[in-house]
Amino acid sequence: MGAAAHIHSAEDARRLAKRRLPWMVFDYIDGAAGNETGAARNAAALDAATLAPRILRDVSDRSLAVDLFGATAERPFGIAPMGMCNLSAPGADLMLARLAARYRVPHGVSTVASTPMERIIEVAEGHAWFQLYFSGDGQGTFKLVERARAAGYQTLVMTVDVPEVGRRPRELRHGFTMPFSIGPRQFVDFALHPRWSLGQLAAGKPQMANFAMPGFDFDRTESRARATWDTLARLREMWPGTLVVKGVLDPRDAVALKAAGVDGIQVSSHGARQLQSAPSPFHALPTIRAAVGAGFPLFYDSGLRSGEDVLKVLTAGADFAFFGRSLQFAIAAGGEAGLHQLWDVFSAELSSAMAQTGVTSIAQV
Ligand SMILES: Cc1cc2nc3c(=O)[nH]c(=O)nc-3n(C[C@H](O)[C@H](O)[C@H](O)COP(=O)(O)O)c2cc1C
Repeated sequence: MGAAAHIHSAEDARRLAKRRLPWMVFDYIDGAAGNETGAARNAAALDAATLAPRILRDVSDRSLAVDLFGATAERPFGIAPMGMCNLSAPGADLMLARLAARYRVPHGVSTVASTPMERIIEVAEGHAWFQLYFSGDGQGTFKLVERARAAGYQTLVMTVDVPEVGRRPRELRHGFTMPFSIGPRQFVDFALHPRWSLGQLAAGKPQMANFAMPGFDFDRTESRARATWDTLARLREMWPGTLVVKGVLDPRDAVALKAAGVDGIQVSSHGARQLQSAPSPFHALPTIRAAVGAGFPLFYDSGLRSGEDVLKVLTAGADFAFFGRSLQFAIAAGGEAGLHQLWDVFSAELSSAMAQTGVTSIAQV
């Protein structure tokens, strides 16, 4: 029996991934900012929220499909953009892309993806959103926007919560850099995780694939602090498609974004990877919903570990949710089969929770 069959929860995937991944890679994916109390606070907030069981309604016929910018997504959750996914296993980016195509859900394609954006959107059959980091003086950034447009992306997600890369002690302790350098410590780490190391050796070292061409140099540690509301206005002007801004926790910012003409907002603390002392995004969500009003597209990510969590954020005002690191753990644990297994777990958890709470469609939530 493969490892995938042992995944019955996000925590199972994490535990199995921890065994297989080098410490450096596991801690890069799992780690959070500072002493990680921000992550713990959000987990506690989600955990403390309850769903109200309702009885004696015929809930036998349930649908998890939802409308997303005028198209039908088969699930009310998608794939959050994550850099260097192929570190979890060779080919991870395309496993996620195939999943997105199958369920017609968005695959967030990171600026620092380990597969070229053109290839991902092709494999995702169009179900891909390009995530943009504003970096340095912005020259390379706007070139990336042009490239995304030429590749056929219709949705651009500007991530605004990384003016500087968060300080994550677990990454710093391992000397994690991108592209990573291999010193004696990493050598021991890789030698102790031969299955991962041999796989990566065969596939070739993962690269920041959107920069493997002249004029697209990217330094992960370069300051992204120069972005302003003018940058956003310029982006809005040059991007004819859908524009989503990710990494919003303050209702004042949400109101200003709506006024600036963005099409959707993603409430997120970047999976608690940026500001340890940030408020719990789950707590920020209802306040932001109240600020932008009903009907404005509002998305959520950070700390989701189950289908019940998805139902909680939909109940608290989100229209759609995104999973992050759990999906990478599922891949590290059990490859593409592991990813599909965890996806099915999330789907079954959500469907079951809908039955318990007496709803048969996402629109009813
Ligand atoms: C390993 C890793 C890499 C990430 N890289 C990016 C990125 O390149 N761009 C981005 O907007 N968010 C990035 N994120 C944040 C995710 O999009 C998302 O906000 C977060 O993972 C959601 O929280 P969760 O992991 O607890 O589900 C990354 C997260 C992880 C775990």
